[in-house]
Amino acid sequence: MDKTSTYQLLVKQVESLLEGENNIVGQLANAAALLHETMGWWWTGFYLVKDGELQLGPFQGPVACYRIKRGRGVCGTAWDQNRTIVVPDVEQFPGHIACSSLSRSEIVVPLHDCEGNVTGVLDIDSKELATFDDVDARWLEEIARIISNYSSQSR
Ligand code: SME
Repeated sequence: MDKTSTYQLLVKQVESLLEGENNIVGQLANAAALLHETMGWWWTGFYLVKDGELQLGPFQGPVACYRIKRGRGVCGTAWDQNRTIVVPDVEQFPGHIACSSLSRSEIVVPLHDCEGNVTGVLDIDSKELATFDDVDARWLEEIARIISNYSSQSR
């Protein structure tokens, strides 16, 4: 299956997985598991804005750092600039936070509340260089929008 077809299916699966549930930790854990298992990434998970910083949320993959300050690393930069960041080579990103020394490329997509404020980020790492491109960014933004909508209903 090509990447677009895989993402089209994933969008439907994420919607049906989150619908009708009001446990945000469970929803985010299942969303991370679905994305991770389907795509075979190295680390797939969420950092959530809490007490003025990003705090580790549900994820799949190796253990990760608990807290990231605004503007720090890829995650804190995506939060601060309120935009998706695609990093083809993590060694070329100034201030990249290496939770796993095996991560080579990364994408971070913000989650939003209904007023457009960033409530967290979807962070994905790959063991290969240049795994993520504009196609991934577009589809992961759509998936992040669905996750944001369903999880805001469960806060
Ligand atoms: N690399 C991230 C830190 C989180 S780990 O990838 C799970 C960053 O630079 O923000």
